[in-house]
Amino acid sequence: PLSHEELFRRINALKKEMNALILAHYYTLPEIQQVADIVGDSLALARAAEKNNADVIVFAGVYFMAETAKILNPGKTVLMPDAHAGCPLADSCPEEAFRRFKAGYPGAIVITYINSTAEIKALSDITCTSSNAEQIIRQIPATQQIIFGPDKNLGGYIAKKLNREMILWPGCCYVHDAFSEAVILKACQEQPDAELIAHPECREEVLRHAAFIGSTKALLEYTVSSAANTFIVATEPGILYEMQQQSPQKTFIPAPKDSKNPRSLCTQMKQNSLEKLYQCMLDRKPEIIIDETLRLASLGSIRRMLDMSP
Ligand code: 13P
Ligand code: SF4
Repeated sequence: PLSHEELFRRINALKKEMNALILAHYYTLPEIQQVADIVGDSLALARAAEKNNADVIVFAGVYFMAETAKILNPGKTVLMPDAHAGCPLADSCPEEAFRRFKAGYPGAIVITYINSTAEIKALSDITCTSSNAEQIIRQIPATQQIIFGPDKNLGGYIAKKLNREMILWPGCCYVHDAFSEAVILKACQEQPDAELIAHPECREEVLRHAAFIGSTKALLEYTVSSAANTFIVATEPGILYEMQQQSPQKTFIPAPKDSKNPRSLCTQMKQNSLEKLYQCMLDRKPEIIIDETLRLASLGSIRRMLDMSP
């Protein structure tokens, strides 16, 4: 097998040759984050995918992220190191079941988390991410009924924060839903000086103890600005790489999943290996292909999100 250094060299050479832009999510492996041009949360990556001069976008993340990049850029080639890297949360909301769910609330506006398929986005009025969900929902008149899916933890968190009832699709992310109050409180007791920070995909029983709640990017920025020196991080531990890079003197502890598992990993994000990244550039596949009718149907809800959170 080729060394990381050799793969970095080849990937960088291909990047120039192809005029490619490599985007990576914070949950990917450290070596993927190192070789990426931009590492970000879902919103930052969607924005980066929208505005760039590249001919090819290489997306090291999960399927819905690369699909969103393609929906925004039909003229560009969008590649993924592993097209089987899906998001189980997105897959927990099938089109037909969601269509029936929606039909139960005629008149409701549909706001969906970007962690959803293009088919679900096509059934939605507005897409959102964890960093702009609150900002978007605040713009909806109080009398307007809202359906929110597919993450019930994020939806429940915003509903509680804004004191606004929403109809929630009962999905969740297995990585974040794995954290429980008892195990998190034990970790906090063991590290009395640490600050608990959490992603809003965590359960309410965890969020209620957090000093700060936000998207991956917001959590990262918080660890830089906070006076605390130690953090218990209740999200996928891939983000710890960049947290440590930006604050080398601080200590980051991944929130334990249960008494036996010190971390809760997103297997799908970790499917993006450096070898597969290099191979996908070399082969120019797997490539994201989306039917034009579906693309146009899902584009409206993504555009509305970008317009509502400038
Ligand atoms: P953000 O990076 O937007 O916070 O999303 C987290 C996540 O679970 C992505 O799949
Ligand atoms: Fe999906 Fe959760 Fe993995 Fe994010 S961390 S990609 S929401 S399964």
